[in-house]
Amino acid sequence: MYFSTIGTSWITQRFIEAANASGRAHLHAVYSRSPQKAKQFAEDNGAVKWFTDIDEMLQEPIDFIYIASPNTLHYEHIRKSIAQGKHVFCEKPLVYTEQQWQALKEQASNKGVFIFEGLRHLFTPNYYTLKAALSKAGQIRSVMLQYVQYSSRYDEFKKGNIPNIFSKEFAGGALMDLGIYPLSMAIDLFGEPIDIAYFPVKLANGIDGSGTLIVMYSDFNVTIMCSKIAQGTIPSEIHGEDGTLTMDHLAPITTLHFYDRKTKETELLRQTGTELDMVYEFESFVKMIEENDIKYHDVLLNRSGHIVKALEKARKKENIFFTDEI
Ligand SMILES: NC(=O)c1ccc[n+]([C@@H]2O[C@H](COP(=O)([O-])OP(=O)(O)OC[C@H]3O[C@@H](n4cnc5c(N)ncnc54)[C@H](OP(=O)(O)O)[C@@H]3O)[C@@H](O)[C@H]2O)c1
Repeated sequence: MYFSTIGTSWITQRFIEAANASGRAHLHAVYSRSPQKAKQFAEDNGAVKWFTDIDEMLQEPIDFIYIASPNTLHYEHIRKSIAQGKHVFCEKPLVYTEQQWQALKEQASNKGVFIFEGLRHLFTPNYYTLKAALSKAGQIRSVMLQYVQYSSRYDEFKKGNIPNIFSKEFAGGALMDLGIYPLSMAIDLFGEPIDIAYFPVKLANGIDGSGTLIVMYSDFNVTIMCSKIAQGTIPSEIHGEDGTLTMDHLAPITTLHFYDRKTKETELLRQTGTELDMVYEFESFVKMIEENDIKYHDVLLNRSGHIVKALEKARKKENIFFTDEI
C-alpha cells in the first residue's frame, strides 16, 4: 500500500514512523505549501515525490492520504481526497460540524472509500484491556476523565501571537484539541450521550483555554476536564458499584489499575511501554482497507459522527463559533 501526506509538523513525522515500523505501507509523496519544506520533508522521509499543489498530488496512484492540516482545513482536504478515490486517514477532530460529517459520509459511500479519524488512544492494547475490564466495575455511577496539559504554544499566545491551535480561524481551543480525547473515549465506552454541557474558561480571543465538560448518560455522568493552559497530575477514573478503574493518562493509557470495592485489593491490569502508539491505529486502518471491512468502517465513522455532534453542541451552547461560522 502507498500513501501521501498533507502537513509537515511532528505528528506527520510520527505517522510516517508508525507506517515504517509496521512495514505495511510506504510513503510515496508529501505536500507542503512551501517548496523548500516539501522537498526537505520528502528527502528526510524517503518520499519519491513532493508537491505544493494538493490537486496534483492527488493524481498520483496511491491508496490513501494522511491528513494533519489545521482543523478547519480537514473538511476540504478530505473532500478532495475522496473525490480522487483515495481512502483517508485524518487526524482528530475529523471535522467540526455534523453537516460536514454527513456530507463526507455520503461522498465516501458513493466513491467506495473509507474515512478514518486518528484517535490513537482508542486502538492501544491497554485501551482494549480497559474495555474488557469495564464489567468488573459493575454498574457505572460516575466517571472523571482529565486531559490537562500546558501547551508550549500558549507561551506564544501570551506574547500576542495566535498559534493555529488557539485560534477561531483554525477551530482551536482546549475542547477541540484535548477534550476530544476523553470525550471520544466516553462515547466509545458508553455510546451517544443523552446531553452535554460545557463550562469553558475563555481566553481574550474567545477561545477556550480550558473547560469542564459534563457528558450525561441515563445512570451516571462523565466529568471531563481539559486544558491547554495548566498542567494536570491526577489520574482519570471510572467508578462502578463494584470497583474503580484508574488510568494514569488517557492518550495513551500507560498504567491501568482495578480497585475491588469488596476486597479492597488493587490489581495492576496492564502496564506497557507504548512509545510509538500510532502504530496501533495505523494497523487497524490498513487492515480495514485490506479486508474491505465495511462493517468496521461504519462503526468507526458513526462514532466520529457522535463525537462531532457532541463537540458542536457543547461549544455552540457556549457561543464558541469558529471564524467561518460567525
Ligand atoms: N493524534 C495526535 O496525537 C495529534 C497530535 C498533534 C496534532 N494532531 C492533529 O493534527 C492536526 C495538525 O496539528 P498541528 O499541531 O500539526 O497543526 P499546525 O502545526 O498548525 O499545522 C499542521 C500543518 O499544516 C500546515 N499549515 C500550518 N498553518 C497553515 C495555514 N495557515 N494554512 C494552511 N496550512 C497550514 C503546515 O504545513 P506546511 O507549512 O508544510 O504547509 C503544518 O505542518 C490537527 O488536526 C491536530 O488536532 C493530532
